[in-house]
Amino acid sequence: MADRHLTLPELSARKREGRKLVMLTCYDALFARLLESAGVDLLLVGDSLNQVLAGRESTLSATLDQMIYHAASVRHGADHTPVIVDLPFLSYQVSVEEAVRNAGRVLAETDCHAVKLEGGVAMAPTIRALVDRGIPVIGHLGFTPQSINLLGPRVQGRDDVSAGRLRDDAVALEAAGVCAVVLELVPKALAAEITAMVQVPTIGIGAGNGCDGQVLVLHDMLGLNDRFSPRFLKRYGDLAGQVTQAVAHFAADVRSGAYPDDAHSFE
Ligand code: KIV
Repeated sequence: MADRHLTLPELSARKREGRKLVMLTCYDALFARLLESAGVDLLLVGDSLNQVLAGRESTLSATLDQMIYHAASVRHGADHTPVIVDLPFLSYQVSVEEAVRNAGRVLAETDCHAVKLEGGVAMAPTIRALVDRGIPVIGHLGFTPQSINLLGPRVQGRDDVSAGRLRDDAVALEAAGVCAVVLELVPKALAAEITAMVQVPTIGIGAGNGCDGQVLVLHDMLGLNDRFSPRFLKRYGDLAGQVTQAVAHFAADVRSGAYPDDAHSFE
């Protein structure tokens, strides 16, 4: 695999150079090809796929087999872009052994490049074990969606105690060997402070512009998911509107007999 745009060990160098990292979620080969040609640095096969594609309430329902299926699809569509795969709920929390086996399966069966997992100090030994076995890990702190039943979908680190915990978590993750940390729903001053504290890049979502990069859920930023509009989300398209319009046009043409016309028929 020659000529990959960015390798995971290069992430810290990008931080030192002050070049922002662009990450988007991706669940299939077609979008992977489009995102790669648009110059996205990192593709994330997020466990959000079960909310976005399957309409489930939370990310908790995603299974390892589902993640592997989507990750392999994304990898088929992206020749040069590093692909990171979320380890789903309960695939890495039960024991270090299970985490190694499951993360290993992800890389072996998909040809993707790293896994992402949620949690701070408590996950450090697991992260260390994965990294020591050659599995690159991206951490995820702040609002961690797999803990939604504990945290609620709210900004984390607003008071001194939880801000201190987040700082400790970031330091522990760096010491354990992560190659980057996603910071989700964190006040922007705290996210900038954590970004300055660690050598590895931070990638923010709802964490202000002091992070080393940004990630959004693709379907949200394209305006395909018109039912989700948190404050941090900026929509760069109105694909929901375009899809509805195109489908209504097709339906009208079928009903009126305008489609298929001679140009779209065989003699
Ligand atoms: O699953 C996901 O889409 C994520 C992003 C929100 C960072 O983890």
